[in-house]
Amino acid sequence: MSTFLQAIEMGVGAWAWGDRMVWQYGAGYTDEDVRQAFFAAVENGITLVDTAEIYGRGRSERLIGAFLPQLPRPVLVATKYFPYPWRLGGRPLRRALQASLQRLGLKQVDLYQVHWPTPLVSIDALMNAMADAAEEGLVRAIGVSNYDVEQMMLAQSALQRRGWQLAANQVEYSLLNRKVEKNGLLKRCQEMGVRLIAYSPLAMGLLTGKYTPENPPPGLRGRKYARRLAAIQPLIRLLEEVGAAHEGKTPAQVALNWTICKGALPIPGAKNARQAALNAGALGWRLSEEEIARLDEASEQV
Ligand SMILES: NC(=O)c1ccc[n+]([C@@H]2O[C@H](COP(=O)([O-])OP(=O)(O)OC[C@H]3O[C@@H](n4cnc5c(N)ncnc54)[C@H](OP(=O)(O)O)[C@@H]3O)[C@@H](O)[C@H]2O)c1
Repeated sequence: MSTFLQAIEMGVGAWAWGDRMVWQYGAGYTDEDVRQAFFAAVENGITLVDTAEIYGRGRSERLIGAFLPQLPRPVLVATKYFPYPWRLGGRPLRRALQASLQRLGLKQVDLYQVHWPTPLVSIDALMNAMADAAEEGLVRAIGVSNYDVEQMMLAQSALQRRGWQLAANQVEYSLLNRKVEKNGLLKRCQEMGVRLIAYSPLAMGLLTGKYTPENPPPGLRGRKYARRLAAIQPLIRLLEEVGAAHEGKTPAQVALNWTICKGALPIPGAKNARQAALNAGALGWRLSEEEIARLDEASEQV
Protein backbone atom coordinates (compact mmCIF):
# COMPACT_ATOMS: atom_id res chain seq x y z
CA MET A 1 0.00 0.00 0.00
CA SER A 2 1.64 3.22 -1.01
CA THR A 3 1.13 6.63 0.52
CA PHE A 4 2.20 10.12 -0.53
CA LEU A 5 5.38 9.57 1.50
CA GLN A 6 6.69 7.03 -1.02
CA ALA A 7 7.06 9.83 -3.58
CA ILE A 8 9.12 12.07 -1.29
CA GLU A 9 12.90 11.62 -1.51
CA MET A 10 14.05 13.89 1.31
CA GLY A 11 12.71 16.25 3.96
CA VAL A 12 14.14 18.77 6.41
CA GLY A 13 14.38 18.04 10.15
CA ALA A 14 13.43 20.76 12.64
CA TRP A 15 14.75 19.44 15.97
CA ALA A 16 17.36 22.21 16.14
CA TRP A 17 14.74 24.92 15.50
CA GLY A 18 14.33 26.10 19.09
CA ASP A 19 16.33 23.44 20.94
CA ARG A 20 18.95 24.79 23.32
CA MET A 21 20.01 21.67 25.17
CA VAL A 22 21.53 19.67 22.30
CA TRP A 23 21.76 22.23 19.49
CA GLN A 24 22.47 25.50 21.38
CA TYR A 25 19.62 27.41 19.79
CA GLY A 26 20.21 31.14 20.24
CA ALA A 27 24.00 30.75 20.39
CA GLY A 28 25.22 30.95 16.80
CA TYR A 29 21.84 30.77 15.09
CA THR A 30 18.53 32.55 15.54
CA ASP A 31 14.83 32.57 14.53
CA GLU A 32 15.85 34.39 11.35
CA ASP A 33 18.48 31.74 10.44
CA VAL A 34 15.90 29.03 10.94
CA ARG A 35 13.35 30.91 8.81
CA GLN A 36 15.92 31.22 6.05
CA ALA A 37 16.82 27.52 6.39
CA PHE A 38 13.15 26.60 5.88
CA PHE A 39 12.82 28.91 2.86
CA ALA A 40 16.08 27.64 1.31
CA ALA A 41 14.94 24.03 1.75
CA VAL A 42 11.59 24.74 0.05
CA GLU A 43 13.16 26.82 -2.72
CA ASN A 44 15.48 23.89 -3.41
CA GLY A 45 12.64 21.41 -3.80
CA ILE A 46 12.08 20.05 -0.27
CA THR A 47 8.39 19.37 0.39
CA LEU A 48 8.38 17.82 3.89
CA VAL A 49 9.35 19.20 7.30
CA ASP A 50 9.66 16.96 10.37
CA THR A 51 9.12 18.32 13.87
CA ALA A 52 7.82 17.14 17.27
CA GLU A 53 5.90 18.62 20.17
CA ILE A 54 9.00 18.19 22.36
CA TYR A 55 11.46 20.05 20.08
CA GLY A 56 12.30 23.26 21.90
CA ARG A 57 9.28 22.49 24.12
CA GLY A 58 6.91 23.50 21.32
CA ARG A 59 9.07 26.25 19.84
CA SER A 60 9.94 24.25 16.72
CA GLU A 61 6.24 23.77 15.94
CA ARG A 62 5.48 27.43 16.74
CA LEU A 63 8.25 28.64 14.41
CA ILE A 64 7.03 26.37 11.61
CA GLY A 65 3.49 27.63 12.20
CA ALA A 66 4.71 31.22 11.81
CA PHE A 67 6.74 30.45 8.66
CA LEU A 68 4.24 28.23 6.80
CA PRO A 69 1.99 31.09 5.56
CA GLN A 70 5.07 32.95 4.23
CA LEU A 71 6.40 30.06 2.15
CA PRO A 72 6.25 30.27 -1.66
CA ARG A 73 4.44 26.91 -1.79
CA PRO A 74 2.82 24.54 0.71
CA VAL A 75 4.86 21.78 2.37
CA LEU A 76 3.84 18.62 4.16
CA VAL A 77 4.19 18.70 7.94
CA ALA A 78 5.10 15.71 10.09
CA THR A 79 5.03 15.96 13.87
CA LYS A 80 5.11 13.59 16.85
CA TYR A 81 3.31 12.69 20.06
CA PHE A 82 5.58 11.93 23.01
CA PRO A 83 4.12 9.18 25.25
CA TYR A 84 5.21 10.61 28.60
CA PRO A 85 4.41 8.19 31.45
CA TRP A 86 2.04 10.71 32.98
CA ARG A 87 0.19 11.24 29.71
CA LEU A 88 -0.78 7.95 28.09
CA GLY A 89 -3.74 6.61 26.14
CA GLY A 90 -6.26 7.99 23.70
CA ARG A 91 -7.47 11.21 25.30
CA PRO A 92 -4.00 12.64 26.04
CA LEU A 93 -2.93 11.86 22.47
CA ARG A 94 -5.84 13.82 21.08
CA ARG A 95 -5.16 16.74 23.43
CA ALA A 96 -1.47 16.74 22.44
CA LEU A 97 -2.45 16.66 18.78
CA GLN A 98 -4.80 19.62 19.22
CA ALA A 99 -1.98 21.58 20.89
CA SER A 100 0.43 20.71 18.05
CA LEU A 101 -2.14 21.75 15.44
CA GLN A 102 -2.64 25.03 17.25
CA ARG A 103 1.09 25.77 17.37
CA LEU A 104 1.44 24.81 13.71
CA GLY A 105 -1.62 26.83 12.70
CA LEU A 106 -3.03 23.80 10.86
CA LYS A 107 -6.33 21.90 10.79
CA GLN A 108 -4.63 18.66 9.81
CA VAL A 109 -1.11 17.29 10.16
CA ASP A 110 0.16 15.25 7.20
CA LEU A 111 1.99 12.67 9.31
CA TYR A 112 1.47 12.10 13.06
CA GLN A 113 4.00 9.81 14.69
CA VAL A 114 4.34 8.18 18.11
CA HIS A 115 7.81 9.44 19.04
CA TRP A 116 9.04 6.43 21.07
CA PRO A 117 7.59 3.05 21.97
CA THR A 118 6.48 2.72 25.59
CA PRO A 119 5.78 -0.37 27.71
CA LEU A 120 3.24 1.61 29.72
CA VAL A 121 0.44 1.62 27.17
CA SER A 122 -0.47 -0.96 24.54
CA ILE A 123 0.38 -0.36 20.91
CA ASP A 124 -3.28 -1.18 20.18
CA ALA A 125 -4.49 1.67 22.38
CA LEU A 126 -2.11 4.18 20.78
CA MET A 127 -2.98 3.09 17.25
CA ASN A 128 -6.70 3.23 18.04
CA ALA A 129 -6.25 6.81 19.22
CA MET A 130 -4.31 7.54 16.01
CA ALA A 131 -7.08 6.00 13.88
CA ASP A 132 -9.69 8.06 15.77
CA ALA A 133 -7.70 11.23 15.01
CA ALA A 134 -7.34 10.25 11.36
CA GLU A 135 -11.08 9.55 11.08
CA GLU A 136 -11.75 12.96 12.57
CA GLY A 137 -9.65 14.45 9.77
CA LEU A 138 -6.94 15.76 12.12
CA VAL A 139 -4.28 13.43 10.72
CA ARG A 140 -3.66 12.45 7.11
CA ALA A 141 -1.21 9.57 7.68
CA ILE A 142 -0.11 7.64 10.76
CA GLY A 143 3.48 6.84 11.71
CA VAL A 144 5.64 5.55 14.52
CA SER A 145 9.22 6.27 15.49
CA ASN A 146 11.95 4.16 17.06
CA TYR A 147 9.75 1.04 16.77
CA ASP A 148 11.49 -2.31 16.18
CA VAL A 149 10.18 -4.88 13.67
CA GLU A 150 7.85 -6.55 16.16
CA GLN A 151 6.41 -3.27 17.49
CA MET A 152 5.95 -1.99 13.95
CA MET A 153 4.03 -5.10 12.91
CA LEU A 154 1.77 -4.82 15.95
CA ALA A 155 1.10 -1.18 15.03
CA GLN A 156 0.33 -2.17 11.45
CA SER A 157 -2.11 -4.92 12.53
CA ALA A 158 -3.88 -2.61 14.97
CA LEU A 159 -4.30 0.03 12.26
CA GLN A 160 -5.42 -2.47 9.65
CA ARG A 161 -8.18 -3.65 11.99
CA ARG A 162 -9.42 -0.06 11.79
CA GLY A 163 -8.98 0.13 8.01
CA TRP A 164 -5.80 2.24 8.16
CA GLN A 165 -2.19 1.60 7.14
CA LEU A 166 1.02 2.44 8.93
CA ALA A 167 2.68 5.04 6.68
CA ALA A 168 6.12 5.44 8.27
CA ASN A 169 8.61 4.34 10.88
CA GLN A 170 11.18 7.03 11.72
CA VAL A 171 14.45 5.61 12.99
CA GLU A 172 18.12 6.52 13.20
CA TYR A 173 19.93 5.56 9.99
CA SER A 174 23.19 6.78 8.52
CA LEU A 175 26.58 5.49 7.44
CA LEU A 176 27.47 5.57 11.15
CA ASN A 177 24.38 3.68 12.31
CA ARG A 178 23.24 0.83 10.07
CA LYS A 179 21.27 -1.10 12.67
CA VAL A 180 18.13 -1.08 10.51
CA GLU A 181 19.95 -2.94 7.75
CA LYS A 182 21.29 -5.56 10.17
CA ASN A 183 18.12 -6.18 12.18
CA GLY A 184 15.86 -6.46 9.12
CA LEU A 185 13.78 -3.32 9.81
CA LEU A 186 14.60 -1.62 6.50
CA LYS A 187 13.71 -4.72 4.49
CA ARG A 188 10.49 -5.29 6.45
CA CYS A 189 9.46 -1.65 5.92
CA GLN A 190 9.96 -2.04 2.18
CA GLU A 191 7.93 -5.27 2.11
CA MET A 192 5.09 -3.68 4.10
CA GLY A 193 5.02 -0.39 2.15
CA VAL A 194 5.99 1.51 5.31
CA ARG A 195 8.32 4.44 4.54
CA LEU A 196 11.51 4.28 6.59
CA ILE A 197 12.31 7.86 7.55
CA ALA A 198 16.01 8.18 8.39
CA TYR A 199 16.75 10.53 11.27
CA SER A 200 20.19 11.93 12.06
CA PRO A 201 21.26 10.93 8.51
CA LEU A 202 24.39 13.08 8.92
CA ALA A 203 25.12 11.49 12.31
CA MET A 204 24.29 14.86 13.91
CA GLY A 205 26.78 16.68 11.68
CA LEU A 206 29.68 14.20 11.84
CA LEU A 207 29.27 13.05 8.24
CA THR A 208 29.71 16.60 6.95
CA GLY A 209 33.43 16.13 7.62
CA LYS A 210 33.73 19.44 9.47
CA TYR A 211 34.35 17.80 12.85
CA THR A 212 37.70 16.23 13.74
CA PRO A 213 39.34 15.11 16.99
CA GLU A 214 40.89 18.61 17.17
CA ASN A 215 37.59 20.30 16.36
CA PRO A 216 34.79 18.28 18.02
CA PRO A 217 31.13 19.35 17.89
CA PRO A 218 30.06 21.52 20.82
CA GLY A 219 28.03 20.46 23.84
CA LEU A 220 26.38 17.07 24.31
CA ARG A 221 27.25 15.95 20.77
CA GLY A 222 30.96 16.38 21.52
CA ARG A 223 30.64 14.02 24.46
CA LYS A 224 28.48 11.53 22.55
CA TYR A 225 30.85 11.27 19.59
CA ALA A 226 34.29 12.18 21.04
CA ARG A 227 35.68 8.67 20.69
CA ARG A 228 34.47 8.14 17.13
CA LEU A 229 35.91 11.28 15.57
CA ALA A 230 39.33 9.81 14.82
CA ALA A 231 37.88 6.51 13.61
CA ILE A 232 35.57 8.14 11.04
CA GLN A 233 38.25 10.12 9.22
CA PRO A 234 38.94 7.37 6.57
CA LEU A 235 35.19 7.26 5.84
CA ILE A 236 35.13 11.07 5.51
CA ARG A 237 38.02 10.88 3.02
CA LEU A 238 36.10 8.31 0.97
CA LEU A 239 32.98 10.53 1.04
CA GLU A 240 35.16 13.35 -0.33
CA GLU A 241 36.65 11.11 -3.01
CA VAL A 242 33.24 9.83 -4.13
CA GLY A 243 31.82 13.36 -4.08
CA ALA A 244 34.67 14.61 -6.27
CA ALA A 245 33.63 12.06 -8.93
CA HIS A 246 30.12 13.61 -8.92
CA GLU A 247 31.04 17.18 -9.84
CA GLY A 248 32.27 18.09 -6.39
CA LYS A 249 29.45 16.86 -4.18
CA THR A 250 30.19 17.39 -0.48
CA PRO A 251 30.58 14.54 2.07
CA ALA A 252 27.15 15.44 3.50
CA GLN A 253 25.52 15.26 0.05
CA VAL A 254 27.11 11.86 -0.59
CA ALA A 255 26.07 10.59 2.86
CA LEU A 256 22.46 11.69 2.25
CA ASN A 257 22.43 10.22 -1.26
CA TRP A 258 23.62 6.91 0.24
CA THR A 259 20.50 6.76 2.50
CA ILE A 260 18.26 7.57 -0.48
CA CYS A 261 19.93 4.81 -2.55
CA LYS A 262 19.22 2.40 0.32
CA GLY A 263 15.50 3.19 0.02
CA ALA A 264 15.13 5.51 3.02
CA LEU A 265 13.75 9.06 3.28
CA PRO A 266 16.39 11.18 5.07
CA ILE A 267 15.39 14.31 7.02
CA PRO A 268 18.67 16.16 7.64
CA GLY A 269 18.54 19.03 10.09
CA ALA A 270 19.67 22.48 8.92
CA LYS A 271 20.37 25.52 11.08
CA ASN A 272 20.69 28.06 8.28
CA ALA A 273 20.03 28.65 4.58
CA ARG A 274 23.48 27.49 3.52
CA GLN A 275 23.14 24.09 5.19
CA ALA A 276 19.59 23.61 3.87
CA ALA A 277 20.57 24.50 0.29
CA LEU A 278 23.66 22.30 0.45
CA ASN A 279 21.66 19.35 1.75
CA ALA A 280 19.19 19.69 -1.12
CA GLY A 281 22.19 19.03 -3.38
CA ALA A 282 21.81 15.38 -2.39
CA LEU A 283 18.87 15.21 -4.82
CA GLY A 284 18.84 14.74 -8.59
CA TRP A 285 21.68 12.23 -8.95
CA ARG A 286 22.59 8.74 -7.74
CA LEU A 287 25.65 6.92 -6.44
CA SER A 288 26.68 3.85 -8.43
CA GLU A 289 26.34 0.33 -7.04
CA GLU A 290 30.12 0.19 -6.76
CA GLU A 291 30.30 3.45 -4.81
CA ILE A 292 27.58 2.25 -2.44
CA ALA A 293 29.52 -0.98 -1.85
CA ARG A 294 32.73 0.96 -1.11
CA LEU A 295 30.91 3.22 1.34
CA ASP A 296 29.29 0.19 2.99
CA GLU A 297 32.69 -1.38 3.46
CA ALA A 298 34.30 1.79 4.81
CA SER A 299 31.44 2.27 7.27
CA GLU A 300 31.97 -1.29 8.55
CA GLN A 301 35.52 -0.33 9.47
CA VAL A 302 34.42 2.50 11.77
N1 LIG B 1 12.38 10.42 15.96
C1 LIG B 1 13.43 10.66 16.70
O1 LIG B 1 13.60 10.11 17.80
C2 LIG B 1 14.46 11.62 16.20
C3 LIG B 1 15.72 11.71 16.82
C4 LIG B 1 16.66 12.59 16.27
C5 LIG B 1 16.33 13.36 15.15
N2 LIG B 1 15.08 13.27 14.59
C6 LIG B 1 14.70 14.06 13.39
O2 LIG B 1 15.73 13.97 12.41
C7 LIG B 1 16.18 15.26 12.04
C8 LIG B 1 17.64 15.22 11.62
O3 LIG B 1 18.45 14.63 12.61
P1 LIG B 1 19.49 15.47 13.49
O4 LIG B 1 19.09 16.90 13.47
O5 LIG B 1 19.63 14.74 14.78
O6 LIG B 1 20.90 15.25 12.79
P2 LIG B 1 21.51 15.38 11.30
O7 LIG B 1 20.47 15.69 10.33
O8 LIG B 1 22.31 14.15 11.14
O9 LIG B 1 22.51 16.61 11.51
C9 LIG B 1 22.02 17.93 11.53
C10 LIG B 1 23.11 18.90 11.95
O10 LIG B 1 24.27 18.76 11.13
C11 LIG B 1 24.80 20.06 10.83
N3 LIG B 1 24.62 20.24 9.38
C12 LIG B 1 23.51 19.92 8.64
N4 LIG B 1 23.70 20.16 7.33
C13 LIG B 1 24.95 20.63 7.21
C14 LIG B 1 25.73 21.04 6.11
N5 LIG B 1 25.24 20.99 4.87
N6 LIG B 1 26.98 21.49 6.33
C15 LIG B 1 27.48 21.52 7.59
N7 LIG B 1 26.80 21.14 8.68
C16 LIG B 1 25.54 20.70 8.50
C17 LIG B 1 24.01 21.07 11.65
O11 LIG B 1 24.56 21.17 12.97
P3 LIG B 1 25.94 21.97 13.30
O12 LIG B 1 26.07 23.07 12.30
O13 LIG B 1 25.77 22.42 14.69
O14 LIG B 1 27.01 20.91 13.18
C18 LIG B 1 22.67 20.35 11.77
O15 LIG B 1 21.90 20.79 12.84
C19 LIG B 1 15.87 16.10 13.27
O16 LIG B 1 15.86 17.48 12.97
C20 LIG B 1 14.52 15.54 13.66
O17 LIG B 1 13.52 16.09 12.83
C21 LIG B 1 14.17 12.40 15.09
